[in-house]
Amino acid sequence: MTIQLGDVAPDFTASSTAGEIRFHEWLGDDWAILFSHPKDFTPVCTTELGAVARLKPEFDRRGVKVLGLSVDGVADHEGWSRDIEATQGVALNFPLVADPDRAVATAYGMLHPNADTTATVRSVFVIDGQKKVRLTLTYPASTGRNFDEILRAVDSLQLTSRHSVATPANWQHGDDVIILASLSDDQAKAKFPDGWRAERPYLRYVPDPSATAEDAA
Ligand code: BEZ
Repeated sequence: MTIQLGDVAPDFTASSTAGEIRFHEWLGDDWAILFSHPKDFTPVCTTELGAVARLKPEFDRRGVKVLGLSVDGVADHEGWSRDIEATQGVALNFPLVADPDRAVATAYGMLHPNADTTATVRSVFVIDGQKKVRLTLTYPASTGRNFDEILRAVDSLQLTSRHSVATPANWQHGDDVIILASLSDDQAKAKFPDGWRAERPYLRYVPDPSATAEDAA
């Protein structure tokens, strides 16, 4: 099954390192990332889980819950967690879903048989407060993901939801943003009373609304 942007994230019930997870209940009205790992006790995955555990306060700050998944069972996850803490210097601080029957992996299209018949690829799903999938990423097992980029993308998605703006190439927090092309100039005037810098009628820049004191509060 292919999950497309705007789809409701499939619900599931699965065991995890934090007990049973009923996914939609666990989400509540919050944003979340769900990301898969090919297998326990593998090197790239070990570094990725350490990286996400270190970044967890940044996900918390954005109101984004974090959920990892690997196809092995909870007992393996618990043994692997001890290795992650010992080698990465940080303990797992979010649940890791066990998916030995590949039910979640199948529902989310995390198995790519031409890459590997049993292990998942490295998938990422960013899910918003309405349980809609807002971003997907697929990396091969051999390439560790850049979770700073995922945080950057979350910032962009949340800006779009809150302020009707898009973010340009290589945007970073604090850089100017672009008024959504779907907003007419009249609609834009209501939202951006201080005006904008138009390089073309369709290329209208405003300062990053999340960089102001009001938005940060
Ligand atoms: C890894 O995490 O290093 C890995 C996992 C599965 C296949 C290849 C690499």
